[in-house]
Amino acid sequence: MALIKVSQLVKHFPKRGGFLNRVIAKVHAVNDVSFEIHAGETLGIVGESGCGKSTLGRVIMRLLDPTSGSIEFDGQPLQELSHQQMMPFRRKMQMVFQDPNSSLNPRLTIGAMLAEGIRFHNRSGYILKDQPLDQYIDSLLSKVGLRADDKSKYPHEFSGGQRQRIGIARALSVKPDFLVADEPVSALDVSVQAQVLNLMQDLRDDLSLTILFISHDLKVVDHFCDRMLVMYLGHVVEEMPCKQVHQNALHPYTQALLGANPVNDPDERHELTVLDGEVPSPYDPPLGCPFVTRCPIKTTKCESENPPLVQINDQQKVACWEVSAEKPHA
Ligand SMILES: Nc1ncnc2c1ncn2[C@@H]1O[C@H](COP(=O)(O)OP(=O)(O)O)[C@@H](O)[C@H]1O
Ligand SMILES: [Mg+2]
Repeated sequence: MALIKVSQLVKHFPKRGGFLNRVIAKVHAVNDVSFEIHAGETLGIVGESGCGKSTLGRVIMRLLDPTSGSIEFDGQPLQELSHQQMMPFRRKMQMVFQDPNSSLNPRLTIGAMLAEGIRFHNRSGYILKDQPLDQYIDSLLSKVGLRADDKSKYPHEFSGGQRQRIGIARALSVKPDFLVADEPVSALDVSVQAQVLNLMQDLRDDLSLTILFISHDLKVVDHFCDRMLVMYLGHVVEEMPCKQVHQNALHPYTQALLGANPVNDPDERHELTVLDGEVPSPYDPPLGCPFVTRCPIKTTKCESENPPLVQINDQQKVACWEVSAEKPHA
């Protein structure tokens, strides 16, 4: 059973300019993306910086409105809901951000910050049941590896890794079913990354969470997720179970990611040296396949026609004319 179902999701950002501040171009941030996440599953989204991962996560959370397409949570379409109608879903769907510094209020103690969110979402008594708020916060802090007396401290008194634990505690404090984790460990030192990932793994298993896990780092996605979507310029180019990625990755972009160690800095995109060619501007995506400017196996068809994402086998989908010609849909 799918907890999340995304269908033909599109998000364009207008770019305004000129004398009359008219829309002069559109960023094609998310282009016709469809997928499901089953209850209890962790789905990874991987791709270089700027490919639309965060936009996709934010549209699913309804922090941004989609340009078109639909998002269903447990069978309920979200894209038409008003602010008021979204309220019950705001508790059920929570987000962990990349940068815990900017997502924590520097003027609130950790305890006050957690209490605010819990009180807000506890209207029907769902979160606290009969437990006192203080006791609930203590147990929450201990779950994420912090101490009860940490609740009287301010965000600046913690290390980066501890702040991300606080970010996780905040997301979990309202007992969500679904978590969007947007590069949750990308800002942390490598040694701390492993600790925070292990913590998330334990919590996911304990609480049977369903997670959309966003990262530019294929290694991290491979380690943490059940299945992955590979994104390029707003398009999903491949979808497959993580355990198959090393043997069975078919899209030339996924293969390039496997061979490279991409960096999360748009200015350093050229570091993905296994690929020749320029990354096209998202304002002016190529006519045909989005990957055509860098693809080592492109043909003339790829210049003019965008390949659809097709099922290659039971568990794998690929958007590549060359791959689907070789492995026609059975
Ligand atoms: N609020 C916005 N206004 C205009 N363009 C945006 C906005 N947010 C993101 N973009 C653009 O959309 C594209 C996708 O961005 P993003 O979703 O942040 O990618 P990622 O998370 O994969 O790095 C980029 O070209 C980015 O510049
Ligand atoms: Mg991002």
